[in-house]
Parts: sequence; structure tokens; C-alpha cells
Amino acid sequence: MDKAVLTDPEVKTANRTDIFVISSHAKHLHDISKALMSFYIVHAFNDVGQLSEALSAFHPTAIIVDDEVSRMGGLDLIQKMRRTPSLNLIPIVFTAKNTSLEQVTMSQAMPLVRTLVKPYRFSALLKSISDQVNAHVEAQWEMMETTQKTALENTLSSFNSVADLIAEGKELPYNEIQQSCEPLVTAVQSGNFKDLLQGVKGHDNYSYVHSLRVATFLSLFGDHLGIKGNDMSILATGGVLHDVGKMMIPHQVLNKPGKLDDDELVVMRSHVTETIDFLNNTPGLPRGVTIIAGQHHEKLDGTGYPYGLKGKELNELARMAAIIDVFSALTDRRCYKDPMSPVKAMDIMEDMGAGHLDQHFLLAFKELLLDATSEADMH
Ligand SMILES: [Fe+2]
Ligand SMILES: [Fe+2]
Repeated sequence: MDKAVLTDPEVKTANRTDIFVISSHAKHLHDISKALMSFYIVHAFNDVGQLSEALSAFHPTAIIVDDEVSRMGGLDLIQKMRRTPSLNLIPIVFTAKNTSLEQVTMSQAMPLVRTLVKPYRFSALLKSISDQVNAHVEAQWEMMETTQKTALENTLSSFNSVADLIAEGKELPYNEIQQSCEPLVTAVQSGNFKDLLQGVKGHDNYSYVHSLRVATFLSLFGDHLGIKGNDMSILATGGVLHDVGKMMIPHQVLNKPGKLDDDELVVMRSHVTETIDFLNNTPGLPRGVTIIAGQHHEKLDGTGYPYGLKGKELNELARMAAIIDVFSALTDRRCYKDPMSPVKAMDIMEDMGAGHLDQHFLLAFKELLLDATSEADMH
């Protein structure tokens, strides 16, 4: 391996969705790159020299190392990276032949290495990368103060449990979800929300990241407007649950880099009715949560979806949720785009005009952003 891979201490970990793949097997490289294209920015390398050069420029979210790597072999390469201080925390997925039992066993004992035996299902590859990336991000939460750490852990576990409940067709235990959001409300009310936004950077579950950000910004907005008590809890819970119907939308549509065609748009928009169907099956759910989930894509001029509600038909909660959802979507990081700065996002939202977003609330949200110190910390 060339020297830069082993010794460069200056390399910063890039908080992006870039994945490096190395294999000297051209077809394998091509197949993986193509399969992962709608989830990650894939950089494919067929030799160690190229990989080494790329690693000296920036660190990816994870590296997929094939057992077929020219000159040294995949396992040797992984061993070298694990011994290199600047590289030993990059998550690795090792793809090995089922005949190389010894290699499989050795790789399984290495830290931050997940091994997949060929042939594997594409979903298994995707899950391995995701698990690796998330374990790395979630491990960093351990260093946070208790409130923020608990806020992230609780909301993530609620989010994951909702995915299971949807899959099993079971009811949502609203009280549990609400309780899991309490540390988030506390963090926001005590002005310690930036750790929450920082803590989900690089997390691989985009739907969770978006929902956590919406819950945080919506609670922050509520706090700024003087909302207290149980209403704050509705904002946080509504934020966490507002897009749960997206779990029913196929990955290719959810993560499509380009513009959606008409059919895909219909599928994408169905996430709201999917969410409502699921929430309607939840006993004791406050109306406010249903409004946040069901009306965050409505517009004041009636051109929104799914109901085409207009003007006064949209209450304050729906108007706030629409602003926060657009702001979060613009400032979210996606596999196909970097996050937009809050200032740029605000400009775009102001250009959307009074037919889309409530101008009074938009001004209040702008004040909030100006109050919150440096913009670099807000996304
Ligand atoms: Fe949505
Ligand atoms: Fe959303």
C-alpha cells in the first residue's frame, strides 16, 4: 500500500454519504456501484494505489473491500487499514468467497468489519453498510450530555419500533412514543438542541434523520412562539411521526436523485395517506399529531396535498409544520445533494410566496434562525 494511506494524519472524516469500493474484479465493481447508486455516492477503485490516493483526500462513510484485490488481497488490505490510526475507524464491509473460510473467520474478528459471503443478496449488502455506518455514528452519542444522548437514543428506538409495528400491522403505543420524546423537548427548552442536529449527521437512516430534525426544529419553533407543556410534546412527537408512511415507499423512489416522473410522484405523495392510515389505528392520538402528519404538505392556496386544503382550513399547527418540513428538507443532507445553508433555504422559502407558506410564521421562523448563533451549526 502506498504511504499516504498509512501515514497521513491530516485527513478529515468527511460527513458525506460517499462509499469507496475496491475490487480488481471489474464486473463485481460495476455491479456494486450500480446497485448502490441511488443510496450513496459510490467511488470505485480497481487497485490499492487509487484507493490510497482517494483516502488521502477524504474519508468515506464506509469502504467495501472485496477479497479480490490485486497484489495484496482484500484481507491484507483490511488488516493494514485497521493498524493505521488515521484509518482504523472507517467502517468496512468485506465481501469474501464462500470457499475462503479462513479469511471469513479472520475478518469477523476484526473491529468495525462486517463480512458478507458471496453470493449475497443486495439487501444484505445495504443492511451491512447501514449497520456499520450507524454503529459508528451512534457510538459518538456516548460522549454527549445525558439529555441529548437520551433524546437521540429514545427517538431512534421509537422510530425503529414504529417500523416494526407497521410491518406487523400493530397499533402504535402513543404514550411510549410521547415519553421517548420528552428528553428532546427538554434539550430544546434548555437551548441544547445543536448536539441533536450534530448527532445525526452522517447517520444512514435518512427517514430517521429527517424526522428527528423536523421534531427538533418544530419544538424549537414552538418554544420560540411561547408554546409550553403538553403542546410542546405534540410538536416533538408529531415531528418524529410526521413521515412514518415513507416506510411504505420503495427505496428507488424515496432516494431518486433526479426529478420524479408522474407515476413516482403519486407513489411519493401517498406517504401522507399511508401515515394517516397508520396513525388512525392509534388509540388516544392527539389531534395535533394527526394535523402535523396529515397536513404538512398542504399549501395556503389549495394546491398542496393530499386534501387540497385552503386558507383558514389550515390551522396554526399545519402552517408551522409546512414551514419546518420545507426548511428541514432543504437543509437535510441527501446522497445526491449537500445540505443547503439555512440562509439560502430561507431565501428559497421567501420566494415560494404567500400562496404556499404562512408569511407571519415564516417571519417568526426567520427571527428564530437569526437568534440561533452561527448558521454553520444549524444544519
Ligand atoms: Fe412528508
Ligand atoms: Fe417530512
